[in-house]
Amino acid sequence: MCGIIGYKGARNANEVVLKGLKQLEYRGYDSWGIASLSDGINVVKKVGKISGVDDAGLGESRIAIGHTRWATHGGVTESNAHPHVSSDGKIAVIHNGIIENYYELRVFLRKEGFKFKSETDTEVIPCLVEYFMKNGSSFEDAFREMLLKLKGSYAIVAVNSDKDKMLVARKASPIVIGVGQDEFFVASDVPAFLEYTNKVIFIEDNDIVEINSKVEIENVVLGKKVDREIVEIDYDIDQAQKGKYEHFMLKEIYEQPDAIRETIRGRVNGARVEFEKFGLSDDYIAGVERVVIIACGTSWHAGIVGKFMIEALGKIPVEVDYSSEFRYRNPVIDDKTLVVAISQSGETADTLAAIKEAKSKGAKVLSVCNVMGSSVARESDETIYTRAGIEIGVASTKAFTSQLAVLYLFGVYVAQIRKTWDKDHLKERLEYLEKIPEQMEKVLKGDKEIIAAAEKHFLKKNALYLGRGTNYPVALEGALKLKEVSYIHAEGYPAAEMKHGPIALIDNKMPVVVVAVQDESYEKIKSNIEEIRARGGIVINVATEGDKKIKDISDIVLYVPETSGLAYPFLTVMPLQLLAYHIAKFRECDIDQPKNLAKSVTVE
Ligand code: F6R
Repeated sequence: MCGIIGYKGARNANEVVLKGLKQLEYRGYDSWGIASLSDGINVVKKVGKISGVDDAGLGESRIAIGHTRWATHGGVTESNAHPHVSSDGKIAVIHNGIIENYYELRVFLRKEGFKFKSETDTEVIPCLVEYFMKNGSSFEDAFREMLLKLKGSYAIVAVNSDKDKMLVARKASPIVIGVGQDEFFVASDVPAFLEYTNKVIFIEDNDIVEINSKVEIENVVLGKKVDREIVEIDYDIDQAQKGKYEHFMLKEIYEQPDAIRETIRGRVNGARVEFEKFGLSDDYIAGVERVVIIACGTSWHAGIVGKFMIEALGKIPVEVDYSSEFRYRNPVIDDKTLVVAISQSGETADTLAAIKEAKSKGAKVLSVCNVMGSSVARESDETIYTRAGIEIGVASTKAFTSQLAVLYLFGVYVAQIRKTWDKDHLKERLEYLEKIPEQMEKVLKGDKEIIAAAEKHFLKKNALYLGRGTNYPVALEGALKLKEVSYIHAEGYPAAEMKHGPIALIDNKMPVVVVAVQDESYEKIKSNIEEIRARGGIVINVATEGDKKIKDISDIVLYVPETSGLAYPFLTVMPLQLLAYHIAKFRECDIDQPKNLAKSVTVE
């Protein structure tokens, strides 16, 4: 949440920062601001999006910092937008995270004569630096002393009108350094500077970085200078562009076949799954007594599908918990529990905290993550990367199906170690998986029917989504997608739960989207559909290609190719993603940047 970028080098820093902010806008988009150093600090702040801004009006500069905001403390106003500047106007700061003790710090600073211009937690940061400098500290020492006063999470970049440098600090909020030829970048995420360099330094919690003519890093907990490796990222800059698509969400839905191909590439060998490197030994996997999956949002839905996959293939009991609940409920886990943390961004605050909680109790943590070098990956004992490429649309799509692919592979991997199934069975499971990308392409060709369904129902106020077995989490995901991008109220349920309450809502204005493919629960779900029809509900069925009979009990049918029970979610989620997308489009919603949301939830 919130995108931050800083630049120091020979280019016009204001232009680099403005461009970088546009790349980061998916992290927060209620307001933006830039502070630029040339003859003092010049600041521009605006409410609204940065996408239409061609020139921030700041002229030329060699050092600048910028921020795109997702409000936490204080409303969406120009004065609350970052950068925040000290009372003497000499220090400017951008911040992502939450300063938990900001109120006490404000009280302290007020007593020292400071006046605040915003309602944010961030403004105490430049004021504290100014306070320590007034008491005789250098900019660098004052920055360190300021950090010692903060409680909470932060990625901070500070500049001083009298110095040709940027100071950076990190604690539980993402920030990376980009290293170019005699130029440096600092940003929440790599795409912000990928156009200029793919050489990146991932800094650690409690690192302080001084960016001058070189990058110097000190870790305050270790109390010494540290070397952090420069790594080359193989992101393709085109992935961060919309190309021929109107929205990132649509582009990313269409990228799913390739994302799955990439995610399974080199990992399937006949009846076997082989991960490129895997730090958890076979003995350890053989001895695991329980798996606990932790995640948030869409990744949590992937986790529920993963439960079906790992239990069916590896025959280990699996629980799925929200990271935010797990971290605070003193979970009963031990060294025989494998915790699987799923996170697209790898920066979700609750998931990170849940990983730390799991590790403190002796469990090993395996993460499923899309971002190399992210905090989740670094905190985990092992990571299996999804290879979905950069996901920019705030509503997650290709990350979800890529997570499913990793969980499916992991299920087979566990099965081969624990010998729960014979080779033929596992080979057959993997063949189903390998067919998925091609079958996804077929689903994408059915876009016309989905657009027609969207056009018919985009004015509805509510919707129900139902599914059974592996398709029950798909129903949850379909409802979440609709809520997020179209603002229509939608609920997802396991279909049999309908009778225990939601059935009260069904009438002739209520569309009910049912995943009714020909898997083990087909006959049961047909009875659920009859119950909806008996109450006048509008039934949109996602069904298996060739199932003509389903038309008799449907208002609309959206077909997907036939596959196995475990593999259906890859396919059945796609019409639901597209339905949400097209409904949102008919409603003229801001699809890639829905209101109140942001990609990468770095605050709890
Ligand atoms: C929904 C969505 C969110 C994320 C959730 C977890 O479309 O994107 O629900 O899935 O915030 O994010 P990650 O996977 O980055 O931990």
